[in-house]
This record gives sequence, structure tokens and C-alpha cells, in this order.
Amino acid sequence: MNATLSRRRFLAVPAALGAAALLPGDFAVALAEETPRMPDLSDWSKVRGQFQLDPDWMHFASFFIASHPAPVRDAIDGWRRAMDRNPFQVIEQGMFEDEAHNIPLQVRAAIARYLGGGAEDIALTRSTTEGLALVYHGLPLKAGDEVLATTHDHYSHHESIRLATRRAGATMRRVPLFDEAAQASTGSMIERLLAAVKPATRVVGLTWVHSSSGMRLPIREIAAALKQRHPDVLLVVDGVHGLGSTDETVATMGADYFCAGCHKWMFAPRGTGLVWASAQNWARLTPTIPDFSDFESYDAWSHDRAPATPNNAARMSPGGFHAFEHQWAMGAAFGMHERMGRSRVAARIRALNDQLKAGLSGIGKVRIHTPMSGDLSAGLVAFEIDGVKTDDVVKRLLERRIIASSSPYAVSYPRLAPSLINTPEEVDRAIAAVREIAA
Ligand SMILES: Cc1ncc(COP(=O)(O)O)c(C=O)c1O
Repeated sequence: MNATLSRRRFLAVPAALGAAALLPGDFAVALAEETPRMPDLSDWSKVRGQFQLDPDWMHFASFFIASHPAPVRDAIDGWRRAMDRNPFQVIEQGMFEDEAHNIPLQVRAAIARYLGGGAEDIALTRSTTEGLALVYHGLPLKAGDEVLATTHDHYSHHESIRLATRRAGATMRRVPLFDEAAQASTGSMIERLLAAVKPATRVVGLTWVHSSSGMRLPIREIAAALKQRHPDVLLVVDGVHGLGSTDETVATMGADYFCAGCHKWMFAPRGTGLVWASAQNWARLTPTIPDFSDFESYDAWSHDRAPATPNNAARMSPGGFHAFEHQWAMGAAFGMHERMGRSRVAARIRALNDQLKAGLSGIGKVRIHTPMSGDLSAGLVAFEIDGVKTDDVVKRLLERRIIASSSPYAVSYPRLAPSLINTPEEVDRAIAAVREIAA
């Protein structure tokens, strides 16, 4: 593409060097040839076999941060070797040469196959936190505007809103969508949310799967109701614990901005994430960090003018040189999920979590805070043992070689999160361990 070739000439390749003499061949093709093919993932033991998790422990907190499975490790190693051999040419070609060689574009295309929509809808980030911050700071908020969030969102979400509204002179408000997650229904949550929207509300922020309680919000239904009543209110979703655990087409779910890290349920490299939005919604935002992906940003800068085209996803992807071996290996994780099948993955996670909830519900002193319905939950089960503090539950599970976690919220519960790396037998052992601790 001429535009990117000019960028190559201007930005990266010293004029004294002839481009033809530099042509390094196609690094991505060379790499693909030396990278092992996607393994057989037709049963769950084969999927578990892709991870190098310490077998002396039962890992029930893998939603926290991913262990890289073999296809992702191989992809990272391949890019790392290529960059260590020839950093200038590999990164120069992969970032700036032309669209056919552009690796972030290939990564975005692989992500789009999973999310729905097109590669052009996706911005690459390094985490949920970074995506949320970029979206809220990019919104055209002004004094008098309000961002409405819920009391159930993560620190990263609330802080992104607080910092962005403070800068704009706008305000934020948080409302509970339920008193007890386990008792909530789709109708009651929609009613509470709609009742909380005020004339000043410009944006609503929601979290798909709450890491506090394990609640999975029915975003599709909530978004439809919100848009029907308040078509001008924008919906921002923190989707990190739904992406890779739920059978959903993100592009049609109803979020205006969908932010997620990919280093949890997707098993993508640590330090990777995405934001999905439509072209129309990208155009509403102003970037915070200069990008290295959109030729118009560069061309406008080089001619000392403002960008002439609407803002877009590439322009919102933070620029600067990154740990590209991680970002460029994201496609392997999405490819792995594609191979496993979104519905198959979601069904397995649901079955293991149903098993856990059924087992825990039979223990007298245990109170489950996650909805029993798999339609309102995903891969996390938050519970409480009467008379035992959260940290002590986690500690006593650890003594039994079970890695649980405590939710990092004002009211904290122990959490067990059965995922693709667990077996039904491990779930039974976790239930037995909780029974012992409760006894
Ligand atoms: C709901 C939720 N949002 C955001 C985050 C932060 O994720 P990231 O590390 O991708 O920024 C977490 C962390 O676990 C979380 O639970």
C-alpha cells in the first residue's frame, strides 16, 4: 500500500539504504513454517496437556492471569527468536512495510473471527485496564455530564471513570443492580439500571462477569433495554471474564465499547488486550496515546496538520515499541479457541461450575453468592463459609494444594474458578476440601 510504503520511507528506513537491498523476505511465512501446527484439541485432557502448570497444585484461580498454552508459547518463542536474530527488519516489516506484511492487522483479523465484525473494529491494548482508560479518557465528556457505573465493577473500571470525569469536569455515580447476586434476575437488574439513568447520564459502564460475585450480566438484554429507552447513552463494557468463557458474539452483543484483557480466559500472552467498537463509535473518541498503526496520524503529523479522517481503532491502539513477541502471538490464542470451539468451551466451563455449585450448595455452612443459573454466571464461583474468614478459607484450601483466590473488593469472598485446565475430579476434591473446612 502506497501510504504505508511512504511511512516506511519516512519513518523507518534511512534514505541512504536502498529498499530492495533490505528486503528481508517474509518473516511471518518463515516463522509459520518453523512453528508447530495447532495441536489436536479434541478432548479436554489434550487441552490440559498444552499447559505447563505445576501438577502438584489444583489451579482454581487461572482467570487471574493466564499460563501460556503450547501454541501461544511456540508463537511467542518464534517471534522472539526472529526479533533476536534481526530486530530491525522483523519489526520494520511487521509494523510498517505494507498491509500484506502487517502483523497487528493479522492479529486483529484473527480476533475479529472470534468476536464477529471486522479487523478494523479492534484496537490492540495491553490489558483491560488500559482499554478502559483509553475509552473513558477518549469520550467527549464535559462539565455537567455524568457517567453511571455500578457498585459491582472492578477498581480499574471505577478508576478509569473517576480520572476521566475529573479531568472533564463531569461526574460519576455508582448504583447497585442487586442486593444479592444469587437472587438477581434479568428483569430486576434492567429495572434498576433504567431507573438510575438521569438526563445528565451520557455513558453507562457495566461489567460482563463480576469478579466480586461471579454474576454474569445478561449484557445483550440489558443493552437492548437501555438503547430502547435511552438511545443516546453509550454503553461501555468491561468484558474480561466473559471473553473466552462464554459463547457470545461480542460484535452484536450491544456494547458500544467492549474492553477486555486477553491474558485471562483467552490464554493470550500476558500483557495483551483489546477494545472492540464500531467505526461510528471509534469516531466519537479522541486518542490519548500516539499510535504506530494508522498512516493518517503519521502523515498529518509530518505535514503539520490535524488528521483529516475520523478517529479509528488503529489510531486508538497505543503506539511506541512494545514487547511485540507477545502482541503478535495473540493470534495463536484466538486460533486455539477457534479450534476448541466457542460453544464447546463455554459448555465445559458451565458444566464444571454447575458441578461445583451443586456440590457446595449441599454443605450446610456454605453460602453461594454466585447465581446458580448458568445463564447468569460463567467461570467463577464466590461463596462464604459461615464463621471462617475469607483469607482463612483461601489459606486452608492452599494447605490442601488447592489454589483459590479472594475477590479484591470492599466485601471479599473466596472464589473457586473451574476452567479448561481443571477436571471434574478436581472439582470434587475442591468440594470435599470446602466441606472439611466448614466442618
Ligand atoms: C472485572 C475485572 N476487570 C478488570 C480487571 C483488570 O484486568 P487487566 O489485568 O486485564 O487490566 C480485572 C482483574 O482481574 C477484573 O477482575
